[in-house]
Amino acid sequence: KKTFNIAVIAGDGIGKEVMPEGLRVLDAAAKRFGIALQYTHIEWASCDYYAAHGKMMPDDWKAQLSRMDAIYFGAIGWPDKVPDHISLWGSLLKFRREFDQYINLRPARLFEGVPCPLANRKAGDIDFMIVRENTEGEYTAVGGVMYEGTEREVVLQQAVFSRHGTDRVLKFAFDLARQRERKHVTVATKSNGIAVSMPWWDGRAAEIAAGFKDVTWDKQHIDALTARFVLQPQRFDVVVASNLFGDILSDLGPACTGTLGLAPSANLNPERKFPSLFEPVHGSAPDIYGRNIANPIGMIWSGALMLDFLDQSGTAGRQAHDAILAAIQQVLHDGPHTADLGGKASTTELGKAIAAAVERAA
Ligand code: NAD
Ligand code: IPM
Ligand code: MN
Repeated sequence: KKTFNIAVIAGDGIGKEVMPEGLRVLDAAAKRFGIALQYTHIEWASCDYYAAHGKMMPDDWKAQLSRMDAIYFGAIGWPDKVPDHISLWGSLLKFRREFDQYINLRPARLFEGVPCPLANRKAGDIDFMIVRENTEGEYTAVGGVMYEGTEREVVLQQAVFSRHGTDRVLKFAFDLARQRERKHVTVATKSNGIAVSMPWWDGRAAEIAAGFKDVTWDKQHIDALTARFVLQPQRFDVVVASNLFGDILSDLGPACTGTLGLAPSANLNPERKFPSLFEPVHGSAPDIYGRNIANPIGMIWSGALMLDFLDQSGTAGRQAHDAILAAIQQVLHDGPHTADLGGKASTTELGKAIAAAVERAA
């Protein structure tokens, strides 16, 4: 039996509070379904490490992580200590790029027992996948400031879209839609205002779509699309977007399903040449850190996605994933709930309740 080597990076803030609950549930699922996991707890990649060493990670970080099958990641960022662009470009964004995790898969689903902030929506009405391009696009460090400090100061910030990078994320989205019931892809662009890259994205989408005759698709301007997330969320099945648009949609989607605290993500290198990274969508939440009230479900669901992805040849990973999802569903339905869902339960209590439900899984 293969042992999966997992790098565990809790990071900053509530990353440190939700990670133990993620591991608690992973352990329960691994035991229940006979999956062997070996954790390597990484002490670097945090703003505390930066404070002590003047950098986010040791120079051999890539060699250390390349040996792993996956990275289980909490959250990084503590803006009072380290500017966000320094801490994130020094860690998470490096992982995504250097490990070519070009798909960021982010589900949004409305569960029973979760109060929906949108009127008249019930469980099942919202169930879509955001496929976010994760290695290029609007996220670049290319640009500069001219005439700095003067009234003529000018800032340039480049966006980068390659045909290779765009086609592969579009293909992934159409492939994913093909495996789903509704088989529909929505392409998020902004081809009225952003006059070069976005009409080009629409063109790439049309060409890729031609290879998927069994999948329907439409393209929507990102502004209109965000309004429809709120007003007609049932319309969406698979939504594919550039790095920045996908980032924004993947906070809005989960907010429409009750809380950001539920949302998981899988940063995938589908070819498995490099380790993939699994993390909640949310960040380090300095505003609630230290009280043990963060919702750990995003972290726990990310662990389920990790087991499913790791065990590609067996069935245990899928079974463990399904059992964790069922346990999450049950706890959302019956309680306890954390504060973001109007409850009083602690992070730890939620983790324990979900782990117990996994242990009972048939
Ligand atoms: P955030 O996601 O940390 O928090 C946004 C809001 O959602 C806050 O009010 C927070 O309390 C709430 N929230 C988030 N997760 C929650 C949970 N699990 N349970 C209950 N409530 C939750 O976003 P932010 O405030 O913009 O960023 C804070 C820091 O985190 C910054 O340094 C930012 O760069 C970083 N960040 C990191 C990641 C990551 O590591 N993947 C993602 C997003 C933000
Ligand atoms: C996310 C986060 C990151 C992003 C930040 C922390 C750089 O918001 O994972 O969604 O924008 O990708
Ligand atoms: Mn984000």
